[in-house]
Amino acid sequence: MKKFWLSRWTRVLLFSLCLVPFLNLLWRVYRNNLTANPIEFITHRTGDWTIRFLLITLAVTPFRRILNQPQLIRFRRMLGLFAFFYACLHLATWIWLDKDFDTHEMWEDVIKRRFITAGMTGLLLMAPLAVTSTAGSVRRLGYRRWQLLHRSIYFSALAGVVHYYWLVKSDIRLPAMYGGILGVLLLYRFGAGFVNGRKSVPATRPLHPPADARG
Ligand code: HEM
Repeated sequence: MKKFWLSRWTRVLLFSLCLVPFLNLLWRVYRNNLTANPIEFITHRTGDWTIRFLLITLAVTPFRRILNQPQLIRFRRMLGLFAFFYACLHLATWIWLDKDFDTHEMWEDVIKRRFITAGMTGLLLMAPLAVTSTAGSVRRLGYRRWQLLHRSIYFSALAGVVHYYWLVKSDIRLPAMYGGILGVLLLYRFGAGFVNGRKSVPATRPLHPPADARG
């Protein structure tokens, strides 16, 4: 199993899988198959994948401990960057297709519509994480400070869930489900799982500092 996780091909396979939603979107654009409301469709698709990738990134640590597969940590950075990639597409859709670069209207939205404020908060919290996701940043910031900064991914996910909860009109099942998953991940990370997990899986910082420290 260890060999499988460490293989370059596993990384290539995962990278390709993460690109599937984006390629699917491109295919739909090419085929002009974006439903009667293309802007809404693209906004929803990219928003959905942003929250999913955020939660998948946060799930890496619990899974590597539960399954006793420390090598899984190798993929966390890539998954986190994909969350940021889909968030940027989501934001670009809003700025370009929805608001047509109207800065006044955008600013009005950010301060008056609370779900936009929450979404923007989530995205702004992700940006420093993406910028400092390299090994060089860990050296420059120092491991402890870098790790503290990267804990903000939990706040970003929380802002994403609140954003989703505030924007839905009546059916809150999906935002509630994402909120529930985030709650479990938080409990695991900072609760009993944290203590038990440290016992079962040794820290892998020397293997891959940027990925290991995050979350
Ligand atoms: C952490 C960052 C963010 C996450 C996780 C996120 C997630 C989501 C999700 C899950 C949806 C609903 C998708 C669906 O109904 O299928 C959504 C919708 C939307 N998001 Fe975001 N979003 C984020 C940031 C932003 C930002 C920065 C903006 C714009 C400033 C934005 C604008 C919107 C809009 C306009 C909608 C559609 C609202 C509607 O249908 O009425 N989001 N987002």
